[in-house]
Amino acid sequence: MKKNKCVVVGVTGGIAVYKALDVVSLLRKNNVDVRVIMTKSATEFIAPVTFQAISQNLVATDMFSEPKAWEIQHISLAKIADVFLVAPATANIIGKVANGIADDLLSTTIMATKAKVIFAPAMNTNMYNNPIVQENISKLKSLGYEFMDPDSGRLACGDEGSGKLPQPNDILQKVMCELYDKKDLMGKKVIVTAGPTRTDVDPVRFISNRSTGKMGYAIATEARDRGAKVLLISGPTNEEKPYGVEVIDVITNQEMLDVILKEYDDADIVIKAAAVADYKAKEYSCQKIKKGDKDLEIELIRDNDILMTLGQKKKNQILVGFAAESQNVIENANGKLKKKNLDYILANDITLKDTGFASTDNKVTIITRRGQEISLHKMSKREVARNLFEVILEKR
Ligand code: CTP
Repeated sequence: MKKNKCVVVGVTGGIAVYKALDVVSLLRKNNVDVRVIMTKSATEFIAPVTFQAISQNLVATDMFSEPKAWEIQHISLAKIADVFLVAPATANIIGKVANGIADDLLSTTIMATKAKVIFAPAMNTNMYNNPIVQENISKLKSLGYEFMDPDSGRLACGDEGSGKLPQPNDILQKVMCELYDKKDLMGKKVIVTAGPTRTDVDPVRFISNRSTGKMGYAIATEARDRGAKVLLISGPTNEEKPYGVEVIDVITNQEMLDVILKEYDDADIVIKAAAVADYKAKEYSCQKIKKGDKDLEIELIRDNDILMTLGQKKKNQILVGFAAESQNVIENANGKLKKKNLDYILANDITLKDTGFASTDNKVTIITRRGQEISLHKMSKREVARNLFEVILEKR
């Protein structure tokens, strides 16, 4: 059986310690083996037993505590880590590491590890902006240590500004990305479109479709984890923005086209998972349409076929489309692949239950330009994304 990845989480003493519990819990839910080291100050905020229960491992707090095994703790923890996360990271731990001070279990373990170390800082905004702290951060960054930007907002002390611990889910995504072994899209620019587009009818009404954006968001996240620079052009969705992905929000077909054309020339891979509206309202009523006694007709006119335009302008980009079909799935998808000059198309049978729109799973057939058909069984949208990139990278 594949061994679970191990993340050593260094917890230092700041008010954001309680949020580190969420981070540990999220890592566990993603099957990560979590080992927590707490500094003495961190234990003033939360007792080690809480982290112990959530990580399901013993928590290390002291260099000289009664050894639980023969190993030297800071060396074994340093070696076992696939990724080393410090969350929350105070000015103190950043300063110690930047200056080579190793005077407790956490600082010695960081000094001894060869794993990637990620700091998630949390401190008062004036402390964070202090040139000494900033210089320490710059120094550590230049040595290959990773830093997440703190969030901004109202801090525990009442000040406003940057210095809040990044959101636990963002920390999770940063760590999961670091743990991902395949970095085969490094240096590539990947554009993904996701979600529906809308056409407005009047100030309170619009026409749209059932797309939730889940498929496109899963593709963008997979591309990010594989090392790509990702631009996600998103119609209105409720999906959480993936950490480390540039997201541009759009509403209409025309807005989506305008953004993608600006970014298209130097893109390596473009994946159009968005459910783009083919028609728009011929006229937009600036005033709310009032009800009358008769039926209402809204005239719709053809809008841009974005993918077709991209196919016509294609140079070296790999262009991927989706085909949402309710009949003759493969035949219709093949037609779209050829007509729109695509390299791959993912054929979706939208009549199937528990897959497609709004579902977390999908069942697709990937059709290649060379005429290969790769039928995938029902799987999560993230797994579909993984399979898609395997097919693209194997140049099938
Ligand atoms: N697409 C697009 N612009 C449109 C319509 C679709 O860019 N106006 C893209 C979608 O993002 C998808 C692919 O084209 O990748 C196929 O979309 P689909 O809705 O399945 O097909 P259509 O071309 O709209 O044809 P039809 O609705 O008749 O099936």
